[in-house]
Amino acid sequence: MVGEGNGIAARVDGSRLWRRLMEMAEIGAIPGNGVNRQALSDEDIAAREVLVDWARRRGYAVAVDDAANLFVRRPGGDLGLAPVLTGSHMDSQPRGGRFDGIYGVIAGLEALDALDDAGAATRRAIEVVAWTNEEGSRFDPGCMGSMVFSGAAQLERFEEAVDARGISFGRALARTLGAAPDLPRRNGEAAPAAYVEAHIEQGPVLEAASVPIGAVTGVQGSQRFVVEIGGSTAHAGTTPVRARRDALQAALRAVARLNEAMTDSNDVLRFTVGRFEVTPNSPNTVPSKVVFSIDLRHPSAEELDRRARRIARVCEKAALPCTVRISRTFDQRPVAFESGIVEAIERSAEMVDLPSLRISSGANHDAAFVARVSPTAMIFIPCLRGVSHHESEYASPEDCAAGARVLAQTLSVLADR
Ligand code: GLV
Ligand code: MN
Ligand code: MN
Repeated sequence: MVGEGNGIAARVDGSRLWRRLMEMAEIGAIPGNGVNRQALSDEDIAAREVLVDWARRRGYAVAVDDAANLFVRRPGGDLGLAPVLTGSHMDSQPRGGRFDGIYGVIAGLEALDALDDAGAATRRAIEVVAWTNEEGSRFDPGCMGSMVFSGAAQLERFEEAVDARGISFGRALARTLGAAPDLPRRNGEAAPAAYVEAHIEQGPVLEAASVPIGAVTGVQGSQRFVVEIGGSTAHAGTTPVRARRDALQAALRAVARLNEAMTDSNDVLRFTVGRFEVTPNSPNTVPSKVVFSIDLRHPSAEELDRRARRIARVCEKAALPCTVRISRTFDQRPVAFESGIVEAIERSAEMVDLPSLRISSGANHDAAFVARVSPTAMIFIPCLRGVSHHESEYASPEDCAAGARVLAQTLSVLADR
């Protein structure tokens, strides 16, 4: 039937999808319609429980791996075949919105329900995954779950990462896994036959073009650094400026110089200092230590590396007489998604009568890591004014449903290959 693809997409229930999105948005709700549901927090654990409950009510199998990546599985007819995977993350920024990440998980579940409601059998199982700590705001860096899943990193590497209160990732992970002791463990399964992640665009392109579906061709490269400036604590009233090693003043000089070094007349390079911690953070004490973050992104690996190489020298020079220690906590090369999956998304959009646009992603996603082990691409839907990582983040119920229709169609096609 024209506009309904193979009939699965037509079973996507936009109001069920929206209801679930709004129910999840209550977990960690903050003023201004936002969400604070950071990785492995009480709120994250509560969201996981809700997802498991929804999945079990439909009879899907649920499992978790050692990184607490959570998998919901609708079985396929041929048990020997690798599954098709979809999903995203349920953790949020500290002042995040109601759609970043969680949309892809709920759209994935909606696709399973659409298949189920249609009574459709697929050759391959379809799994929905909720990746652990995509955001990296509580535990640096992000995408820990998908890095471990794809072999880009070992879980042990992250265990000592601590949050602002000194709680280690390892401890928070054990607590999260311990909160659901009945979940079967799933580790070391064969790589999925394909991965398709649905997500809000988090940028303005689709909205400006009035196109409801983005077929995502890849993700730009990104690197994260932690810069530690060391000075000396001293009394604010008695210590002459000449005698000070003021870590905050040094950090401010370093950030100002970095801004100069990171200017880009084409406005393609993205340079962000988003975290700034001052020790001892007292009004009448000269700061002895400042730790700040750098998030650097560019579509070209060479340009990204060229700029990144300048960071240490710029900081060391600007921070004198203070000391500088820099560590790179994240290094993601630019990723080009598999053209066959991008085309499958485009064809699925056509089948359900939705216009689509090829688009590349400025934000990072778990899909960039899964792409190492499985043919991967993403589906974007527009979000209001391109705003994300903000309480006011918004995607309309119509666009959310449209993305889920294309996802359901794409998954059902891939799961029968
Ligand atoms: C994910 O939120 C990112 O940092 O792009
Ligand atoms: Mn996200
Ligand atoms: Mn995000």
